[in-house]
Amino acid sequence: MTRDVPGLFHARLGEALKAGSLVRLVLAGPRPGVAARQMVIRPVVLKAGPCFSVVWREERRDVTKNHSGDEVVELCRERIGPEYTGAHLYTTTATFQLDCRDPARPHLSTAPGVAAVAPEALQHDRVRQRSVSAKAPWLHLLGVTNADGRVAKGMEAKFRQIHRFVELLDPLLREASFPIEGVRTLVDMGCGKGYLTFAACEHVQRAGGAPWKVRGIEVREELVRLCESAVTTTGITGLEFVQGAIEDTVVERADVLVALHACDTATDAALARGIRLRSSLILVAPCCQKEVRPQLVPSPVLARPLRHGIFRERHAEFATDAIRAELLEWAGYDTRVFEFISPEHTGKNLMIAAVRRESGTGLDPAVAAEAVRMLAAFYGIRHQRLAELIGFDLAAP
Ligand SMILES: C[S@@+](CC[C@H](N)C(=O)[O-])C[C@H]1O[C@@H](n2cnc3c(N)ncnc32)[C@H](O)[C@@H]1O
Repeated sequence: MTRDVPGLFHARLGEALKAGSLVRLVLAGPRPGVAARQMVIRPVVLKAGPCFSVVWREERRDVTKNHSGDEVVELCRERIGPEYTGAHLYTTTATFQLDCRDPARPHLSTAPGVAAVAPEALQHDRVRQRSVSAKAPWLHLLGVTNADGRVAKGMEAKFRQIHRFVELLDPLLREASFPIEGVRTLVDMGCGKGYLTFAACEHVQRAGGAPWKVRGIEVREELVRLCESAVTTTGITGLEFVQGAIEDTVVERADVLVALHACDTATDAALARGIRLRSSLILVAPCCQKEVRPQLVPSPVLARPLRHGIFRERHAEFATDAIRAELLEWAGYDTRVFEFISPEHTGKNLMIAAVRRESGTGLDPAVAAEAVRMLAAFYGIRHQRLAELIGFDLAAP
């Protein structure tokens, strides 16, 4: 008798809903034509009572709807298999992974359970949690606000950037899967004056749940001193700043790795660290992509337009960041690229957000590797720092 493997998965889902042990359910691996790359389902508590938030992660937006437990069961029965090739059910007692890439041979595996997460509170509380208060003492100590808690003249764009960073960090933290053991760690590489490090620290600590340690790494000693002094004055715990280079500072754990506007290949060093440390979430905003520019040998059709320096510069930026994004996919990350602040504030506003994938989902590594190599070959790129650091041979057949 053949086992009804998807049926077993649905039975485990039903049991988890009944026992109240469901922490998260993720449908991934969309079949062609399915608009959302993932569906993420979590318990929430609304004014009307407990229910489930279902987030459809589309390419350019998230669509959220609330459903009852019965509706979640129905939704999963309809979509797992026909629309999504993989499903991960996280409960406090066990994790179940269903793989239906081959409809004739579905596979169900089991792993240990995950830590319970308090259901997200009322919608309006959540909106408040996401924002950065201009009254935060650290903002004043770093020169973003005045003593009366108003944004200082000339710092409006910086304040908006900090605010925006927290807004986009929040859903990514919810999407990522973190190890259960130990204190979660966020490392901000090339943290500068620490604006985003303080903001991230405040956000993760305020969210409750698992304890967090936050660490800023910065090569310039005077900036590290400034940040340390703000930590001492505010008495914030679990936040530290270390002087050193991204390339060689010892980092043992980084569940979240952030590197915004670290220069040129320092971004690659940060990305490679994140990949090696198996960070759950990596966020980088690249800047001054100089490394590949002298190597660009574009196809003949682009040769004339690329005599213009600005086109060459933009091409080098595109080629570098596209290779980085594809390498992250190859290394097991779901990767998104977007503008995170308005280009009127800075041209360096591209962000690459990479969430570590559940094993067994996403692109076949051989297909992903081929995509990277084709891209590099198209531009004539033979060396790229991230590829070198993670041992990816751009030229291999
Ligand atoms: C443009 S600032 C950005 C600061 C911060 N990440 C932000 O977005 O607000 C870049 C910072 O990265 C630091 N940096 C650049 N390369 C670095 C490296 N290899 N190791 C450590 N810090 C580096 C610089 O000293 C500078 O403070």
